[in-house]
Amino acid sequence: MKISVIGCGYLGAVHASSMAELGHEVVGIDVDSSKIALLSEGKATFFEPGLTEVLSSALAGGRLRFSSDIADAAGAEVHFIAVGTPQTIGSYAADLTYVDAAVTSLLPYLSAGDLVVGKSTVPVGTAARLAELIATSGSGASLAWNPEFLREGFAVNDTIHPDRLVYGVPAGEAGERATAQLNEIYATAIEAGTPVVVTDYATAELVKVSANAFLATKISFINAMAEIAEVTGADVTQLADAIGFDDRIGRRFLNAGVGFGGGCLPKDIRAFTARAEELGRGESVAFLKEVDAINLRRRQRVVDLVVSALDGQLYNSRVAVLGLSFKPHSDDVRDSPALDVAVQLYGLGASVVATDPQGIENARGRHPQLEYTASVEDALRDASVVVLVTEWPEFTEIDPVWARTLVKTPTIIDARNTLDPVAWRAAGWTYVGLGRP
Ligand code: UGA
Repeated sequence: MKISVIGCGYLGAVHASSMAELGHEVVGIDVDSSKIALLSEGKATFFEPGLTEVLSSALAGGRLRFSSDIADAAGAEVHFIAVGTPQTIGSYAADLTYVDAAVTSLLPYLSAGDLVVGKSTVPVGTAARLAELIATSGSGASLAWNPEFLREGFAVNDTIHPDRLVYGVPAGEAGERATAQLNEIYATAIEAGTPVVVTDYATAELVKVSANAFLATKISFINAMAEIAEVTGADVTQLADAIGFDDRIGRRFLNAGVGFGGGCLPKDIRAFTARAEELGRGESVAFLKEVDAINLRRRQRVVDLVVSALDGQLYNSRVAVLGLSFKPHSDDVRDSPALDVAVQLYGLGASVVATDPQGIENARGRHPQLEYTASVEDALRDASVVVLVTEWPEFTEIDPVWARTLVKTPTIIDARNTLDPVAWRAAGWTYVGLGRP
């Protein structure tokens, strides 16, 4: 199928490359011509395992091209909208400027039978409004909403082998046609047994935000238990293992630690709260404010643990921060708990030296005041306290006996609860986890 993908950021670049990998003929379009130039050379503009490979193979096979001219969308039958919906400055609501601009700029190039497919995460009600805009343009095109559930670090695999497909489509014949077009695009996944949920716009939009709200709630639930564990001497990791054996609960996303970050979970729960309030149903998701508050308290807890490990003497104390990205296998530092902790400690007067396998460049762009090093050894050298904030294998596999020889004081704050306390204590370290005795 001939496809255009409008927006070549995280979502769009992965989607365009993956659709080409599946055999479709794809044009990726973005207003940022420097991004387009790099992508056209097969260079991903962010770190994502496997992306360079699919990008290069699709470009070499002639199935993928990039352009900064929206007119190049003409001729494609399906147009994916994959632009960002960040948090609005000064409010919790999602900023729909880019979605609106993408659809509006596409209107002159739509033909009868074309399908515009929203992939961006939007407040419920957006699709109905955009469908109206497309209908009044007189092109004869229609709209579907097809939310994306990919995880950073697994983005290509999640796009090619999704665990479910959700289509929000209009009623009647237009909906049947949209479903058939999407089924053709995702034929490989559907043949492999991926379930498809065909529904209305509002449900499709809500599936996306409620899935992220549920995941955020699950993480904050276990972090709330960590807070209780901290005042009772209980061990939250054993608690998570024990409740996780119940299939109805499940062990995944029950890792207590410094909490969630990134470009999705934090802003999505806030946008959901803002939208529910607009709809007069703020109380229905008021608990998400508490989910957010618990999450942010965990960052403060990590900072407090460092302050207490240093007896309040932060000035001139060297603190090694292991991790900057919001999670491993990503260079994304948007709303990263790790970077937040590093910046807070710097603000309190500590001499912070931070390291990360992929996140340094992005972190430096936002916070040039911090000291960065690509070497774990250099980060550890002479540290008065070490904080593990992102569970990269490069950090979780550190040999505590070796690390002990580098630091000034052997104290480690394991803000992801991923190290073996027995091994670290045996090597002479003071080990401090979150919600663990
Ligand atoms: C999340 C969702 O998992 C995806 O399904 C969704 O498509 C995506 O947002 C999106 O809306 O685009 P992602 O932001 O890549 O994906 O990251 P997650 O793997 O969900 O992790 C989010 C944060 O939660 C990370 O900071 C991670 O360290 C933290 N986390 C995760 C925990 O603190 N504990 C856990 O048990 C699991």
